[in-house]
Amino acid sequence: MQKKINCIILASGNGSNALNLIHVFHIDTKEHKNAVCGINISAVVSNIKNAPVIEKVRLAAPDIPVFFLPYVSVSERGNFEKELESIIKRFNINCIILAGFMRILSKEFVSKFHKKIINIHPSLLPAFKGKDAIKSAFDYGVKYTGVTVHYVTPEVDAGPIICQEVVKIEETDTVESLELKIHDIEHRIYPAALKKIFV
Ligand code: GRF
Repeated sequence: MQKKINCIILASGNGSNALNLIHVFHIDTKEHKNAVCGINISAVVSNIKNAPVIEKVRLAAPDIPVFFLPYVSVSERGNFEKELESIIKRFNINCIILAGFMRILSKEFVSKFHKKIINIHPSLLPAFKGKDAIKSAFDYGVKYTGVTVHYVTPEVDAGPIICQEVVKIEETDTVESLELKIHDIEHRIYPAALKKIFV
């Protein structure tokens, strides 16, 4: 019997990546009972009270527990990480998936979960680290940008790269059309990267 990897998803916003992963690893595998899947989405955590991701997950997968743990200002980080660790223990979590999680985890927390935290970033790292990477690449005028899946290390957007995919910025592209292209790639390569690691 294949060992199940229990994952927790951390998300702050819209939740398209979180929802996509839940479709691939939870909803689709339930519908197709024979699907081979070593990945179990055990829980979702959002640090933002009214983040759309919370409602979307509750509607799409009512059997996945969703937690709200406040973390907006850095003063809330200690408590956020303490509560998160207790959820991680409770659900026997082996992997923490960041899917649009817009806060920085402490060095101590990241070091505790070495090679167990994975992130997706909407640029070809190490270019355009940090927030608003899609718009920054577009405004800079690069001809190619892309998506990176990487392990999380204490330095933001700098951990070992798991996979990348390039997207060409066409003359006719706008920031909005580029965003759509990037999200399409994200929804394809994030589950593929996780399958490559765990399945
Ligand atoms: C994605 O572009 C992801 O790469 C970045 O944050 C965005 C989250 O989008 N880390 P969504 O909330 O998953 O729709």
